[in-house]
Amino acid sequence: MEQSSDNLELENARLRERLADAESIIRAIREREIDAVVVNSSEGDRIFTFEGADYPYRALVESMSEGAVTLSEEGLILYSNPRLATMLGASSAELAGTTFTDWIAPEEVSAFNDLLQSGRNACVSGELTLRNRSGEALPVHASLNSLLVKGLRCCGAVLTDMSLAKHHAALAAAAEYVRQVNDRLREADKRKDEFLATLAHELRNPLAPIRAAAYVLKKLDTADDRLVQARDMIDRQAAHMTRLIDDLLEMSRITQGKIELRRHSESLAGIVSSVAESARAAMEAREHHFTVNLPDSPMLIHADAIRIAQALFNVLENAAKYTSPGGHIVLQARREDDEAVITVQDDGVGIAPEMSTRIFDMFVQANGGSRRHHGGLGIGLALSRRLIEMHGGSISASSEGLGQGTEFIVRLPLCTDALPDARVSAGAGAGASVAPGTPRRVLIVDDNADAADSLCTLLQLSGHTARTAYRGSDALREISQFHPDVVLLDIGLPDISGYEVARRARAQNDGRCPILIALSGWGRAEDRELALEAGIEAHLTKPIDALTLEQLLDNAGRVSRSPD
Ligand SMILES: Nc1ncnc2c1ncn2[C@@H]1O[C@H](COP(=O)(O)OP(=O)(O)OP(=O)(O)O)[C@@H](O)[C@H]1O
Ligand SMILES: [Mg+2]
Repeated sequence: MEQSSDNLELENARLRERLADAESIIRAIREREIDAVVVNSSEGDRIFTFEGADYPYRALVESMSEGAVTLSEEGLILYSNPRLATMLGASSAELAGTTFTDWIAPEEVSAFNDLLQSGRNACVSGELTLRNRSGEALPVHASLNSLLVKGLRCCGAVLTDMSLAKHHAALAAAAEYVRQVNDRLREADKRKDEFLATLAHELRNPLAPIRAAAYVLKKLDTADDRLVQARDMIDRQAAHMTRLIDDLLEMSRITQGKIELRRHSESLAGIVSSVAESARAAMEAREHHFTVNLPDSPMLIHADAIRIAQALFNVLENAAKYTSPGGHIVLQARREDDEAVITVQDDGVGIAPEMSTRIFDMFVQANGGSRRHHGGLGIGLALSRRLIEMHGGSISASSEGLGQGTEFIVRLPLCTDALPDARVSAGAGAGASVAPGTPRRVLIVDDNADAADSLCTLLQLSGHTARTAYRGSDALREISQFHPDVVLLDIGLPDISGYEVARRARAQNDGRCPILIALSGWGRAEDRELALEAGIEAHLTKPIDALTLEQLLDNAGRVSRSPD
C-alpha cells in the first residue's frame, strides 16, 4: 500500500515534470524561442519543427508586407506573420491558437467559411473585412491555399491590406470627379462667353441707329434747351452703352482667343502721350490735376498701338473715376533696362490690400458701391491685363489701403533691335481731328431700315449725297445707277450676302467699282478675312462711330479704286 502510494507520488511528480516541460515547450513555441508548430488535432497535440532548410522561406514570410496565416482544419490560427499581427493589433503569440473567424467582421464570417471550404481543393481568393483588436474594420484581399503539413490538412492564407488601395481608389475617383466638374465648368464658361458675345452683338444692332439719330439731332439747330438737353443725354447714354457692350464683346473675344494683335514697331512715348490727351476730358470733367511725365526718347515697342492705348486708357479712366474731384493724378513713363515702365498714380479712394490682385479678374469691383456710383461692369482692368499680357508685359496695382490712393504699374518689353524701316506712329490716333470732309456719294446697304435711314440722314447732314438699299439686289442696281464713291455694306442681307454683293459689284462695274466698306455686327477675324476675299476694302464693326466714318469717307479718295 505504502509502495503503491510512493509509486503514485513518483508517477505524479513525473507527470507534473512532463506537464511543466510541455508547458514550457508550448510557451517557447508561442514565444518563438524555438521553431515549431503545435497542431491541436483530434489525435492530440502534434508538434512540427522547422527543418533548417526551411529558414529562407520562413524569413521570407516573416518579412512580407502582406499578412500571412496558417489555419488548422478547425480554423485555429497556427501561425501568423508579424505583418498580420500588426494589422490585427495583437502579437503573433496572442493570435496563435485563437479562432481566425473571431478576427473577421461578423457579417462576413459565413462568406469566409464558404471560401475556406472551396479552398480545400483549389487556390481561391476573395475580399474580406477583418476586425482588429480595437474593432476597426480593415479591408483585405485574401488568397487561400490548402496545405498538407506532415499529413495534417491546413490552410494557408495571404492577406493583402486593401485600405491603402481603397484609399487610392477613392482618391482616383475624387480626382476623376474634380476633372469632370472642371470640364463642366469649362464648358459652362465657354457657353457663357458665347452668350456674352451674342448678347453684345445683338445689343449693338439697335444702338447703331440710336447713335446715328443722336448725331442727326446734334446737327440740327434747335433753340429749345429741353431738346438740346434730351439730345445730349441720349448721345451720352448711348455712347456709354456702346462702351459697355464693346468691353463685353472684347473680353469674350479675348477669352475665346479671337483677338489678333497687329504689331508694329511703335513709339511707346507717342502712344502714352495720345492716351493722355484722350483721357484729359475725363480728368477735366472731375477737375483733377493731371500731370504727365514722358521721356524724350520714343521708347520703341513691338506692339499693337490701338490695344496698348486701350489698356492704358482703362487705367487712366479708372484713376479719374476713383479719385474725388480735384484730386491729383500723375502719369509717367520711363525706361528700366529692357522694359518700359508706365505708372499711373492717384490720391483717390485706394484699394484694400486683399483686393489689389483680384481687381484684375472679370466682373470684380473693389467696393460694392463702384457699380452704383460709377457704372461699369468691372471688365476694364481684366481687359487691360489680358491686352498687356498678350504683349509680354505685366500690370499690377499697389495701394496703402482705403483712402490712400493707388498706383498702377504697367511693364512692357522694349524692342531691343528696332527694325530700320520701323513705322513710328504717334500712337493710337486718339485725339486726331477730322479734316474738313470732301462730299462723297454714299450708298448705305442695310436690311435694318432704321439703321440705314438714320445713317443716311447723318451723312446728308454732313454734306454727302447718300442713298439707301435694304436688299442685296437693290444695292447692285443702285451701284450701277447711282454710281456711289463708297458703299457701306451690311453683311447679313435677306437675299444675297454682303460678300456676294461685293463680288458681283466688282465684276459688273468695269473700272467704276466703288469703295466697299463692310459694316457688320460681328468684328471677328474670320469675318474680316471673308470681307477681304470678297474685295471689301475695310471692315467696320457696328455701331460705327461718326468720327471714324467721317475720317473714312475723307480718306476714301486716296484709296485705289481700280478693279483687280
Ligand atoms: N485707381 C483706382 N483707385 C481705386 N480703385 C480702383 C482704381 N482702379 C480700379 N479700381 C477698383 O477696381 C475695380 C475694377 O476696375 P475695372 O476697371 O476692372 O472695372 P470698373 O471700372 O468698375 O468698370 P469698367 O468695366 O467700366 O472698367 C473698380 O470697380 C474699382 O473698385
Ligand atoms: Mg474701369
